[in-house]
Amino acid sequence: MSHRRLLVTNALPYANGPLHMGHLLGYIQADIWVRAQRMSGNEAVYVCADDAHGTPIMLAAEKAGMTPEAFIAGIREGHEADFAAFGVDFDHYHTTHSEENRELATLIYTRLRDGGSIAKRSIQQLFDPEKQMFLPDRYIKGICPNCGTPDQYGDNCENCGATYAPTDLINPYSVMSGATPVLRDSEHYFFELSKFEVLLRDWFAGKYSNGKPVANRGVVAKLSEWLDGGLKDWDISRDAPYFGFPIPDAPGKFFYVWLDAPIGYLASFKAYCDKTGVKFDEFLAENSAAEMHHFIGKDIINFHGLFWPAMLHGAQMRTPTALHTNGYLTVNGAKMSKSRGTFIQARTYLDAGIHPEFLRYYFATMLSDAPVDVDLDLKAFEERVNSHLIGKWVNIASRTAGFVQKFFGGKLADRFDVEEAALWQTLLSHYDGIEQLYDTGEFAEVTRRFVTMADLINGYIAAKAPWLIAKDESRRHELQQVCTLSLNAFRLIAGLLKPVLPATVAAAEQFLAAPIASFIDARRELHHHTVGNFEPLLGRIDPRHVEAMVEASKESLGVSAEALVVEKTKKAINNTPKVAMTNADSQPTNIGSSPAPTPDIIAIDDFAKLDLRIAKVVGCEFVEGSDKLLRFELDAGPLGKRQIFSGIRAAYAEPDKLVGRNVVFIANLAPRKMRFGISEGMILSAGEGGADLFLLDADNGAKPGDTVR
Ligand code: MSP
Ligand code: ZN
Repeated sequence: MSHRRLLVTNALPYANGPLHMGHLLGYIQADIWVRAQRMSGNEAVYVCADDAHGTPIMLAAEKAGMTPEAFIAGIREGHEADFAAFGVDFDHYHTTHSEENRELATLIYTRLRDGGSIAKRSIQQLFDPEKQMFLPDRYIKGICPNCGTPDQYGDNCENCGATYAPTDLINPYSVMSGATPVLRDSEHYFFELSKFEVLLRDWFAGKYSNGKPVANRGVVAKLSEWLDGGLKDWDISRDAPYFGFPIPDAPGKFFYVWLDAPIGYLASFKAYCDKTGVKFDEFLAENSAAEMHHFIGKDIINFHGLFWPAMLHGAQMRTPTALHTNGYLTVNGAKMSKSRGTFIQARTYLDAGIHPEFLRYYFATMLSDAPVDVDLDLKAFEERVNSHLIGKWVNIASRTAGFVQKFFGGKLADRFDVEEAALWQTLLSHYDGIEQLYDTGEFAEVTRRFVTMADLINGYIAAKAPWLIAKDESRRHELQQVCTLSLNAFRLIAGLLKPVLPATVAAAEQFLAAPIASFIDARRELHHHTVGNFEPLLGRIDPRHVEAMVEASKESLGVSAEALVVEKTKKAINNTPKVAMTNADSQPTNIGSSPAPTPDIIAIDDFAKLDLRIAKVVGCEFVEGSDKLLRFELDAGPLGKRQIFSGIRAAYAEPDKLVGRNVVFIANLAPRKMRFGISEGMILSAGEGGADLFLLDADNGAKPGDTVR
């Protein structure tokens, strides 16, 4: 296949909150695809941005007492850090609130207007007389006109499912002020989508993508259904006050957020071009031979499959080559839920200490070209990554690499013997075609190929039993064959997994002393070659970390998402350590706080599981809003600084007096997300609880970080 040039985008996350597991599904999917394209020899530019405009963001900023600019800057910082941590490696990350986007939105709008596809007419809309603003549907509540349930949104009823106009609500009120909204006239701008019916039909049929499908069949069917139902004009304007771009020659009118959001793809790409010298028009001109691929969630198909191609075409630009649509994420078989602890933020996953590439792998095993919902079953997650990645893949190397070092100075055999050559060919036959599987989004099938290959080679290793052969000096040749084939197979699988596990495979390449530049390169046999020392590449998931993640997610219970965002943003801006707010009145576990019956006899091994350490108190203070907690900052020597919340406030009325003294703490307790921040361990004290609690000390000479045995 000839070299392809690809511009790849991901749906732009709203700048109103942190990323969660559901978001990550689509970003990880796209990142894997981009990496696989590059390993197939294609050129890909991968861009994204924060979607920064609109009423919800404007109001969230107002609530936080910030300018929208400062608010979105804080959110963006968090998004970028989360993407980086999960290996989602954009070539450029931008924001829709940027000069590039203002210019492009203005340009595209102007071309649409001059091309005669913008109409202007007056509409009636509900207006909040106190807030002095027009109200979006979601900001009006009232009694459902269908079933009589109170407090239903202006667009549909959560009780009976009826959809209606906000003006149909009985006794409507403004969510923002409580005032009764009044109807007002306002002039709005509309994009006349129906003028693009022919274009859209052609685009669906693949006329603009060399006959290749523009989306999964089900997605195209859905789009066609909407089209057959008749295309309505699209309202693209909003009245001030609005956080967005003003419409040229229309004082007080702004572009609706969804007008400039997809244009944000182009703005991000434009900024990339300015940075690198790549030519914007080579990708965006109407006749461009480059491809443009959009990765989106299933909830935003209409924007990308109807309005967006029409807008581009109307502005004399190329249309998208393909939409890649992901389904929704559920956790443990149900919609993510705060009370069950399954509304898991990206940051909470990371804080729990679970390897980010484990999530990438799990998602890969669930993804195909179809936008079906994906379940993150936490038990299956744990079992699958442990079994597949460590049990099946890393083990190939850990069972053979030691012998290569010990008996052959790291050297692999010069060629395969007959049996090994045959098995190598079989492995290659399973590896064949993975480029196409990646290209068509069939990642689950790629991972099934990996499992088949790994089972074959592990069966071979088990049958050969190199650990027995190694005992017999006369069988060195055989031993080297086993190791050589095993490490070649390990590398072939590493090639297959590289788009999914970039960091782990980079470490594998290091060990093998052989980079994997492409899918073809991974097929090259390593002979006459010296490998490096093997270090375990991945550790098994600790189930306690998964539990800690769920616990930490539960504690956000009762806090509105908005409060969380406001808090996080303030924190991000102050650049202080990450702190999560929750209303749950959780208390730290403190061994002195409830007198327990004498526990059972334990073995010394049980005691050894506790990493008890000395630390010096470098800071100690009351915790605002808690009458039980003190916040400690500890210097734990080589372990670094730790923040620990301890429920001993009643016993220590003057926390600053504790600064400078030693304490004993458990250093390997899973971190716990509390209402006031993350607690990274537990400080030991003796006593009955309440005011009767006494911190443990250590005699002179003990240093911070010293182990307590
Ligand atoms: N800002 C718009 C997209 C504009 S694109 C020009 C938006 N933002 S979002 O933050 O709500 O969602 C970002 C992406 O995450 C979307 O593709 C959306 O479908 C996806 N998901 C959000 N929640 C999701 C799940 N629970 N599961 C899977 N994908 C999810 O939409
Ligand atoms: Zn109802």
